[in-house]
Amino acid sequence: MTSDKQRQPVPCEFMPDDYFARLEPHSIFGNDKPLEIDLGCGDGSFTIAMAQHHPDRNFLAVERLLGRVKKVCRKAQQHGLDNCKVLRLESTYVIEWLFPENSIDRLHLLCPDPWPKARHHKNRLIQQGFLASLFKALKPGGEFCFKTDHPEYFEWTLEEMETFQKFDKLDWPEDAFYYPKTDFQIQWEAEGKVVERARYRKPE
Ligand SMILES: C[S@@+](CC[C@H](N)C(=O)[O-])C[C@H]1O[C@@H](n2cnc3c(N)ncnc32)[C@H](O)[C@@H]1O
Repeated sequence: MTSDKQRQPVPCEFMPDDYFARLEPHSIFGNDKPLEIDLGCGDGSFTIAMAQHHPDRNFLAVERLLGRVKKVCRKAQQHGLDNCKVLRLESTYVIEWLFPENSIDRLHLLCPDPWPKARHHKNRLIQQGFLASLFKALKPGGEFCFKTDHPEYFEWTLEEMETFQKFDKLDWPEDAFYYPKTDFQIQWEAEGKVVERARYRKPE
């Protein structure tokens, strides 16, 4: 088996030189455009559409499955996107350990694994520790956008955010700004199910 350290990155894949050092966003894209992160990007349809729509911003997609990473990288390359890269790593680690304070402009967490069984709730990404790391990593005025197809995880997230207290909750009416649906969401809604959303801001 080849570890990520031995493996050569595929085009559009980002591999930090040092996985244990804080990562300066400039080192990812070689410029200082606003940075948006798509945690658990899946097939990457959201990141790719966003990167096409916002050439003035950088998009880093995070995904732990190598097959998906390669697929998203292929799409980014096919579209000739120089503002989109993919990082193969665990989401919590990225937010807690990789990014320095006040470095991320917007974080997207779209339909994360809901871990529906009570004994698995501890595996949910949204926990007080994660929110504390996210709060630190976001720039003042930075945003957190969350969507889920799982009603109970949505309630959980609203409650965790309320307990954390430090974020301001923002309105998020449909079509308030460009925000493409992922294939996952489109498929889910086609089955008549609802995808809930919530949007928060770190105060200036
Ligand atoms: C249900 S899918 C949603 C994908 C995409 N966000 C969407 O809405 O279409 C969840 C994705 O997150 C990835 N994932 C789950 N836990 C992760 C973790 N801890 N770190 C990185 N990726 C993770 C999975 O491999 C999967 O691709």
